Amino acid sequence: MESRRILVTGGAGFLGSHLCERLIAAGHEVLCVDNFFTGQRKNIHHLLDHKSFELLRHDITFPLFVEVDEIYNLACPASPIHYQFDPVQTTKTSVIGAINMLGLAKRLKVKVFQASTSEVYGDPAVHPQPESYWGNVNPLGPRACYDEGKRCAETLFFDYHRQHRLKIKVVRIFNTYGPRMHARDGRVVSNFIVQALKGEPISIYGEGQQTRSFCYVDDLIGGFTALMDSPDDVVGPINIGNPQEFTIRQLAEQVIDLTGSRSKLVFEPLPADDPKQRRPDISAAERLLGWQPTIPLRDGLLRTIAYFDELLGRARED
Ligand SMILES: NC(=O)c1ccc[n+]([C@@H]2O[C@H](COP(=O)([O-])OP(=O)(O)OC[C@H]3O[C@@H](n4cnc5c(N)ncnc54)[C@H](O)[C@@H]3O)[C@@H](O)[C@H]2O)c1
Repeated sequence: MESRRILVTGGAGFLGSHLCERLIAAGHEVLCVDNFFTGQRKNIHHLLDHKSFELLRHDITFPLFVEVDEIYNLACPASPIHYQFDPVQTTKTSVIGAINMLGLAKRLKVKVFQASTSEVYGDPAVHPQPESYWGNVNPLGPRACYDEGKRCAETLFFDYHRQHRLKIKVVRIFNTYGPRMHARDGRVVSNFIVQALKGEPISIYGEGQQTRSFCYVDDLIGGFTALMDSPDDVVGPINIGNPQEFTIRQLAEQVIDLTGSRSKLVFEPLPADDPKQRRPDISAAERLLGWQPTIPLRDGLLRTIAYFDELLGRARED
């Protein structure tokens, strides 16, 4: 395969850093663009000296003039704690950031990939969610800056595709976990693992009967590259995630088991607009990309626990 120069926005984040790594391993050059709002240098530290890796500190709400062969647009805070910190900036990153990346792709005549989200389905009235489901999003609630920002970004991608014949690839990502997740961003897998490793009570919202499906990061990145390399008429939106569904309570119990923790479960009120169930219908990804996840929750949790164990160990030594 010929080597390409690839822009990854949000490349210092959780998913972005894994994507940069995967693209370099496949023989490509990576230009990682990040404003370090939630991204961390340590996520890409091991890539900094690599001859095929370049880092640029930049906020994608401002225009970017670079020369690349392909664009992956991942820049956007992804967890409620982070995207609700400055909701106006979240919408700007999703919408103006998308316009800037689409403009760049149009000028360069290159393919552009958008990291959208299962949050575009809101609190779904259809279960599991196929891509054809239009969603049930509260446009005024505290999650709207993210949900509506991502929905508008999808609209922009499809309008650039129709109006300017731009080559686009839109993926709707479902809950993903793995090493380099943020330790304190309130996402359920990292929360539970950190609480279990510290022996602190594990906080469950509501009674823990809401369900989620968890995809291990390596599986997800395989879905990204499969979509990017698929024929031009496969534009998405396409669900990528793991359809195996677990209740939050089951997840907590498995984490306690795998960490050997003595943590107890504590129950807290449900946050506003918290979806009751979430599970991808991945039949389109299976049919169009020949993709499906392969890493079972237990294996992925063990690798993620090992990462947090080392991280907390280092923090204790400092
Ligand atoms: N992790 C998941 O489960 C999940 C689920 C659905 C969608 N996504 C999407 O995937 C993408 C990556 O998510 P993640 O989990 O890696 O989150 P993350 O917060 O770890 O990464 C986001 C990155 O974008 C950077 N960023 C934010 N605003 C920016 C801006 N204006 N300009 C430049 N860089 C900016 C951050 O510094 C960070 O490095 C996001 O677009 C997110 O919406 C993630």
